[in-house]
Amino acid sequence: MTVPAGRPVTEDTIGGLRARLDGARSGGQRVGLVPTMGFLHAGHQSLIERARSENDLVVVSIFVNPLQFNPGEDFDDYPRDLDHDVELCAQAGADIVFAPDQHEMYPEPVITTVRLGSLAGVLCGASRPGHFDGVATVVAKLFSIVGECSAYFGEKDFQQLTIVSRMARDLSLPVRVVGCPTVREPDGLALSSRNAYLSSDERAQAPALRRALEAGAALVEAGEPDGAVVESRMAAVISDAPLARIDYAAAVSPATLTRSEQPLQGDVRLLVAVRFGKARLIDNLGCRTG
Ligand code: PAF
Repeated sequence: MTVPAGRPVTEDTIGGLRARLDGARSGGQRVGLVPTMGFLHAGHQSLIERARSENDLVVVSIFVNPLQFNPGEDFDDYPRDLDHDVELCAQAGADIVFAPDQHEMYPEPVITTVRLGSLAGVLCGASRPGHFDGVATVVAKLFSIVGECSAYFGEKDFQQLTIVSRMARDLSLPVRVVGCPTVREPDGLALSSRNAYLSSDERAQAPALRRALEAGAALVEAGEPDGAVVESRMAAVISDAPLARIDYAAAVSPATLTRSEQPLQGDVRLLVAVRFGKARLIDNLGCRTG
């Protein structure tokens, strides 16, 4: 639901944001944080609306974080539109947009980073080495800047959500990490800022990700015991899209993100990553063995 609201305050310094939040918290207000890299869409708005419904003060951070891009990835081309983002934040009921520049976030070359264990080397971490260390470092920084709060992340980035939740527990950060459902186009494609890279032919084929996950979940729920069979089925559905290049199609345990024990048992998370031209799309679905 869209809450009619005034324009949020835009804050671009860490000190300015802290001063506002300290004041709010000392008055007993609950703070909600939605970390983003901007170029917002209805998926981000659903996170902001959830934060709005559970907190007194909602902060949306907008920062394209260089640490989480590898050389040759799309850091320079990553889509940016701050004015439109502020508009979407207003519609969804945000109070503060925190939009620091690179110098504010990283005034010196970074030598202190968050280094993650096994959760970060699998799935997307296997083809994007260092990516999740970069995500965790900026998220730890945002958590430190914002302080005690609830922070809202989309389930579309399931590995990121798992890692951030684990980091908050491991480091005893005063943050409640909340996972929120993926928002989809009517044909099943998960909303993502990177969908903007798709040509019309690629866009027409992109719902193959969702179809693959549904086919995999149907097998798991029908009692297929072998994770490899589920993974092959998902890969076969994706391969029906001629422009798709599969990065991975995996059936894993949701807690460890590693291949589920054989036979599959209990909760299983299915995840896929697929390249269409310049876009690398990801999606996932939870299911249970039948
Ligand atoms: O999901 C994203 O947009 C980013 O990875 C995040 C969490 C804002 C960190 O830069």
